[in-house]
Amino acid sequence: MSSWLYSDKVKAHFMDPKNIMFDDEGFEYDAVGTTGNIKCGDEMTFYLKIDPETLTVTDCRWKTFGCASAIASTSVLSEMIKGMKLDDAYSISNVDIMKELGGLPENKVHCSVLGDKALQKAIDNYYRSRGMDDRVHETESRIICRCLNVSEEEIEHAVLEGARNYYQLQEMTKVGTSCGQCEEEARERLAFYIEKHFGNDSKDSAQGRKLPGR
Ligand code: FES
Repeated sequence: MSSWLYSDKVKAHFMDPKNIMFDDEGFEYDAVGTTGNIKCGDEMTFYLKIDPETLTVTDCRWKTFGCASAIASTSVLSEMIKGMKLDDAYSISNVDIMKELGGLPENKVHCSVLGDKALQKAIDNYYRSRGMDDRVHETESRIICRCLNVSEEEIEHAVLEGARNYYQLQEMTKVGTSCGQCEEEARERLAFYIEKHFGNDSKDSAQGRKLPGR
């Protein structure tokens, strides 16, 4: 697929998105989750109706200030999760969403993360609001580089924004540019997120040049 072409399914979901929240429809929900990407100016909110006996998603809505890719990927996600157990819905990744959509241009992959991150927050919101703290998945993002205060979440975000080797990761986050002690762990996390989001073929972390330390 050419890097700027969308599949027919992406176009169909963008032109006719499913399960959008209309403020005046009075949709009653049991859980809500919002995520945002300040850099892009995108924001996504997911609303879930949940069967408390089976912990299954019975209905959902979402709304976003996002691009065509964010709209299409969240629309298809909202269809995928109906009737699904909460923990199964939580484990849907952006790779699963992209497969369902027939692919996305690589430079738009980060937009497909908005929907599943908001969904995960909504699921954790449900567990917390019902006192089921042992089921909450979310954990604090770990700091990988203490000198520059770079978190694991920022490394994942840099990968989604295009970092494919250590040099690019340093340019985008400044990780490892002071004492350098975090380099091994940062490289390992870089490789992990490249494989997670783009598969093995894009992995090039071992070849990246290192910016001089300060
Ligand atoms: S811990 Fe990352 S540069 Fe020092």
